[in-house]
Amino acid sequence: MDERNKIHHATLIIIIIAAVAATGGLLFGFDTGVISGALLFIKKDFALSNLYQELVVSAVLVGCIIGAASSGKIVDRFGRRNVIIVTAIIFGLGSLWTGFAADAVHLVLGRIVVGLGIGVASFAVPLYLSEISPQEIRGALVSLNQLMITIGIVVSYLIDHYFATWDGGWRYMFLAGLFPALVLGIGMLFLPRTPRWLASKQYESEAQRVLGRIDPHHAEEEYRRIKRSLKVEKSGSFSDLFAPAVRPALLIGVGIMVVQQATGINTVIYYAPTIFEMAGFESARAAISATVGVGVVNVLMTIVAIRLVDMWGRKPLLYLGLSGMVLSLAVLGGAFALTDILGASLKWYALGSLFVYIASFAVSLGPIAWLMISEVYPLQIRGIGMSVATLANWLFNFIIALTFLSIIDVLGRPGAFWLYATIGIFGIWFTWKYIPETKGVPLEQIEKNLYAGKPARELGR
Ligand code: BGC
Repeated sequence: MDERNKIHHATLIIIIIAAVAATGGLLFGFDTGVISGALLFIKKDFALSNLYQELVVSAVLVGCIIGAASSGKIVDRFGRRNVIIVTAIIFGLGSLWTGFAADAVHLVLGRIVVGLGIGVASFAVPLYLSEISPQEIRGALVSLNQLMITIGIVVSYLIDHYFATWDGGWRYMFLAGLFPALVLGIGMLFLPRTPRWLASKQYESEAQRVLGRIDPHHAEEEYRRIKRSLKVEKSGSFSDLFAPAVRPALLIGVGIMVVQQATGINTVIYYAPTIFEMAGFESARAAISATVGVGVVNVLMTIVAIRLVDMWGRKPLLYLGLSGMVLSLAVLGGAFALTDILGASLKWYALGSLFVYIASFAVSLGPIAWLMISEVYPLQIRGIGMSVATLANWLFNFIIALTFLSIIDVLGRPGAFWLYATIGIFGIWFTWKYIPETKGVPLEQIEKNLYAGKPARELGR
């Protein structure tokens, strides 16, 4: 093959790899969204109490927490690809279990199994993508995962809508999750293992071969860099995560995930129809259409993020997005505070501010939180590190989802949104103080900086 063909071929391989692997994101998004529609029917079929409804909804999150917490070491030991394949199987089993559930108990159990799968996939997929990507387009490729999450959310709304008129339609809603699970599981069988994991396990020639296929231009240089970074590292154990040199990475990873969740994204994803009804959209139908709009804006702005993340860099996007989130939350809270004055126009303020909010999230914290955690940890403990950050993500997802309605009871509607806005201001400070700019920086350079004792925000220099 001549040089140009080689590069063309490599680009094609990368696109195929990224597309298949990012199907994991589709599963993540699909199951985030599918329950909203399915619940309406399940609660009738099984005559569910409020408590059981909450259980059915949150069981996935419990599974995610267990999955993320338990799999970090497994990903480092058995490799990213193998774990993703097993995850797809678990996810498929969970979809069958929920789809054929005979009663509410089976439904909850099946949802926990689905959650286990998502909890693992949510970090194993960005990890895989990050380690397989050439550094110039790493941001874009890892962010593809987030794009698939957002597409998964919209697809789940559409699937819910489609099956809503079928008898026992909720079963098909859950079973639809089998298709992406099959694509992911079978597709991954044909994809290479990541060169970085291979090198860390002494599969030297395979590591070189994979590098040659995906990045022929820099293959040798990359390989040398990986080997060099492996020399300075010990084997990775959980306690290594707390070693002084690695602490900045831990702080960045956990911190950005807390900010991603505690600024309220999933109150919008889970409760958008409720918020729109509060703001005066009278029919459930109008509220749901507005919600689909939110989902579509989420997808479109993630595409914008993919275009910009390797051009502008991570930090400028974070500043831009967090500022937009803070402003829109402040306006949303303000609109609710002025309900009497605004009257019927309240709903347009709500619609406008939620659109600005989701657009700002999608261009920043959505993709960049997952990207950041795939970049900052040293190779030997990358799996463990990412799983801890992901655990923080799901834990706060759970807390925020569980407390949203109670916070409104205590602080009122304006107070609730202002609270998330305040956390957003903290997020801007956190970005300034701790987040490094990692655009175009090789993973091994970031690692070298960590071990050289550089502070968090200088890891990319
Ligand atoms: C978050 C999810 C959220 C989704 C929305 C992801 O990055 O981790 O919690 O539901 O974005 O697009």
